Amino acid sequence: QQIVFKDKGKPPVVFHFFPFFGSTVVYGMDPYAFFASNQEKYGDVFTFILLGKKMTVCLGPNGNDFVLNGKLAEVSAEEAYTHLTTPVFGEGVVYDCPNHRLMEQKKFMKFGLTTETFKSYVPLIVEQVEDYIKKSKYFKGPTGSVPLMNIIPEVTIFTASRSLQGKEVRDALDGSFAALYHDLDLGFNPMNFMFPWFPFPGNKRRDAAQRKMARFYMDLIDKRRKDPNAASKEKDMLWNLMDRSYKDGKEISDREVAHMMIALLMAGQHTSMATTTWLLLHLAEKPEVVAELWAEQQAICGQDPRPLAYEDLAKMPLLNNVIREVLRMHPPIHSIIRKVKSPMHVKSQNYVIPAGYHVLAAPGASAMDEKYFKNANEFDPHRWDEVEEEDAGEKFDFGYGLVSKGTASPYLPFGAGRHRCIGEQFANVQLGSIIATFVRTFTFSLPGDGKVPGPDYTSMITLPTQPAAINWKKRNP
Ligand code: HEM
Repeated sequence: QQIVFKDKGKPPVVFHFFPFFGSTVVYGMDPYAFFASNQEKYGDVFTFILLGKKMTVCLGPNGNDFVLNGKLAEVSAEEAYTHLTTPVFGEGVVYDCPNHRLMEQKKFMKFGLTTETFKSYVPLIVEQVEDYIKKSKYFKGPTGSVPLMNIIPEVTIFTASRSLQGKEVRDALDGSFAALYHDLDLGFNPMNFMFPWFPFPGNKRRDAAQRKMARFYMDLIDKRRKDPNAASKEKDMLWNLMDRSYKDGKEISDREVAHMMIALLMAGQHTSMATTTWLLLHLAEKPEVVAELWAEQQAICGQDPRPLAYEDLAKMPLLNNVIREVLRMHPPIHSIIRKVKSPMHVKSQNYVIPAGYHVLAAPGASAMDEKYFKNANEFDPHRWDEVEEEDAGEKFDFGYGLVSKGTASPYLPFGAGRHRCIGEQFANVQLGSIIATFVRTFTFSLPGDGKVPGPDYTSMITLPTQPAAINWKKRNP
């Protein structure tokens, strides 16, 4: 098919019938299928219309590099995301401040994510999971079935809150905080992203919940300041963020600390929840992998395994590789978006992307491309066995030489560049501890046709289609 360039120099525009709606529906229903079919027609770089916005998709490792490595003068994440995130996180943080402030905020957050804190987190996370399993109505008796979407959101928020967020937040989740979280979460959806100006009925509840949740954290800061020796003095994120100042001397207000805590809660919750759910589905699909994980755990922690410790996680390559593999197949974030601030030149195709457009990277597309991963549709954690330990953090060999984990990689579930995720290690600790505990307690299988359910793209992140159930059987009934 001959491609006609209407606007010479600009990337080709995906064919559509209706000017404003453009490709909104096809993209929204299955972004990866939409990207793949247009990649065939137009190549790695093309533009589509999303509710009047011009979105230029940049595929492949080079596309990832182009978007994620964009210069500050060329691209802005805050202009792409702020209308979604600011009402939820609150003002003055993340995308509601200049980029240099975000960079400092991320540095402060990172200070709270150290090996020392992770060591204290593992037993707390395990305790939460064990307690949850004990009390949950879905795990009564020796065998049963559980719709994962009914339990995993709670398992992730309980574990993240007991560790990273602090004991008081976990305790509050048994009370009014849970409803606040629920109301705030209502604001974190594609409709709010696409129609930020529309007065959705949930907006008032979202805004009230944001204010109340911020007040909760501010009161907590106050309480901790007055009683620094209280039992709450565990090494959590709130202690780490309190009483910090920016390089230029400006103090971070308690409200900003509260808003950062909310941002961390939201950023970690959806991503970890989705990943844990996909993990359990794929483990139920492959009981032989569960058997291997169990053997790996027994080899490190003993036949009748002793309590899991942070150090054990690093000695379990298969456990880490199942997480890697699930994030390859189901990265929670399918579209990473930036607003173009000054014209960007795509050298390989000699296109110019004008200011006012958005650019979109989809590392999840290259991670499922046969060019980089053989049998890309197969869940095979062993494909990562060959990655040498010292390369694991930095470089991967995808079959065409070592590729840095920098921006030009086909595998970037945590993004790259200045907006790269700061939560990767925490996520690995959280997911590893949750999965290890489930593997100790159960064996799994998939009900029905034995197939992992397909993805559902209707929320902000890529989730499995409901009910995403698995069958479980207790090892020690
Ligand atoms: C950024 C993925 C867990 C906090 C990102 C980005 C991705 C990502 C792709 C880049 C977004 C962009 O460039 O626009 C994930 C995945 C997770 C995860 C797959 C778990 C499986 C977490 C957790 C936290 C967190 C647990 C907090 C403890 C953040 C923060 C940013 C970020 C603060 C920086 C945003 C920016 O600089 O613009 N994450 N994340 N993430 N993530 Fe995560």
